[in-house]
Amino acid sequence: MKYFVLNGSPRKERSMTMNVVRSFLNGIEEADPEPQIDIVHLAKCNIQHCRSCYACWSHVCEGECVITKRNIDDMAPLMDKYLAADKIIMATPMHFFAISSYLQKFLERTFPLIKPIYIPAEQDDKYKDMSTKDIAVISTCKVAFDGVWDCIDAQMQLISRKRYQRIFSTQPLAVSNKDKELTENFLNTVTLAGKEFALCGEFSEAVRQSLEKSIQAMGEQIDTRNIGF
Ligand SMILES: Cc1cc2nc3c(=O)[nH]c(=O)nc-3n(C[C@H](O)[C@H](O)[C@H](O)COP(=O)(O)O)c2cc1C
Repeated sequence: MKYFVLNGSPRKERSMTMNVVRSFLNGIEEADPEPQIDIVHLAKCNIQHCRSCYACWSHVCEGECVITKRNIDDMAPLMDKYLAADKIIMATPMHFFAISSYLQKFLERTFPLIKPIYIPAEQDDKYKDMSTKDIAVISTCKVAFDGVWDCIDAQMQLISRKRYQRIFSTQPLAVSNKDKELTENFLNTVTLAGKEFALCGEFSEAVRQSLEKSIQAMGEQIDTRNIGF
């Protein structure tokens, strides 16, 4: 199967979120004998902003972005991979309680794909509906408290028609040996989640609960505020 990883961290390969993604990909590789995994660091790509011309929503360029069609930035090959993938993995650090601007800019350029969600009545073959794909969203932040993931969750629920799988955590960083146990426990559960995502596109209730438990333990017991830059 084809997996497309979009990393929205400006830290590219050094991204903390990508550390979580790597454990997730280990699980995918355990479950899928021939995974085709493509990782794109959006911070390395030349992606122009959506110009809000609405050509992609009208007869001018129905279902396609005019900038992408002109092939003047990196969006055309990215879009090909996005459309060809069976499963999408979005990785993003939390920035100002939301997804990173790198990922947001990419998503805005996929504007034609979101038309079926805004205007379901006008759905036709020209507009591909991305919410039919399996989507996993992996995000890390510095400090978690009640409601801190609400913005990212609301956006992803709408994009995926409530089908996306989530792993939202504080940074899995170990200062002491006790922390090491907590982060290893979390990352092992992430690997299990990756396995399930490869096999059926969603996490079981047992894995969801283990994730929640290990994320809560890390968040409560490891103070990452002054480490992991
Ligand atoms: C511009 C900016 C905004 C951030 N906003 C938040 C935030 O709102 N809440 C939070 O807990 N952490 C915030 N952080 C911290 C990152 O979410 C955190 O360090 C994350 O693990 C970085 O992941 P990365 O290494 O994959 O980029 C912010 C960091 C930056 C640089």
